[in-house]
Amino acid sequence: MLKLENVTKTFGKIVALKDINFNIGDSEFVFITGASGAGKTTLLRLMLRELLPDSGKIELDKEDITKLPSKQIPRLRQKIGVVFQDFKVLGERTIKENVEVALAVIGLPKNDWEARVEHVLKLVGLTDRADLFPAQLSGGELQRVSLARALVVNPKIILADEPTGNLDWETADKLMDLFEKINSEGKSIIMATHNKLIIDKMNKRVIELKEGGVFSDSESKVKTKSEKGKK
Ligand SMILES: Nc1ncnc2c1ncn2[C@@H]1O[C@H](COP(=O)(O)OP(=O)(O)O)[C@@H](O)[C@H]1O
Ligand SMILES: [Mg+2]
Repeated sequence: MLKLENVTKTFGKIVALKDINFNIGDSEFVFITGASGAGKTTLLRLMLRELLPDSGKIELDKEDITKLPSKQIPRLRQKIGVVFQDFKVLGERTIKENVEVALAVIGLPKNDWEARVEHVLKLVGLTDRADLFPAQLSGGELQRVSLARALVVNPKIILADEPTGNLDWETADKLMDLFEKINSEGKSIIMATHNKLIIDKMNKRVIELKEGGVFSDSESKVKTKSEKGKK
């Protein structure tokens, strides 16, 4: 589904990513880890076409997104929902309105909004918070709002950049249950995190970056485990 081939990205003299190669399959759950500055965020931004690599290919469903004309970037972004460490919710809008914003962006007719918003708010367990404002919610709840907003356009992939960075362990752990559920319903999850506790607990594929290169990729090990899991 997503294939990176010899991807290199520099910022002036800084080599943020160096000759990156990997493949991520449909419905996979993958952690991208590594120390601060290792290149995790840059990698996610390349997948979103927020950045272009200096060289290399990034194929999503066999289409090289680095060659995509800018007119087609909105179409790419509909396939990818994004969740950030700092939630990025709009303080002056209700929870429901925050989720609706994503539907407005893709130009979905208003008649179709209610059912979609209800569905995702239920999925993340926030139905009874729909008419509250962000200041009235906890950090864990706000992260679930941002997950609902990412999901409401029905993307194929969820990219999450340090989504537990502002959460305590217990809240982070619960959020992971939710990501797990979403993944089991068929969405691919690509999550950048340096939270080792979470990575160890989740037992998913882990791609570790070090100084902009792929230091390790647990793909083969995890494949065996998930095959066992499927019985
Ligand atoms: N827009 C930018 N301009 C200049 N340097 C950048 C920019 N974005 C990232 N970098 C540099 O690229 C490297 C990787 O950064 P980043 O992808 O944010 O790492 P991580 O998310 O793993 O902490 C760092 O050295 C960082 O300073
Ligand atoms: Mg980062």
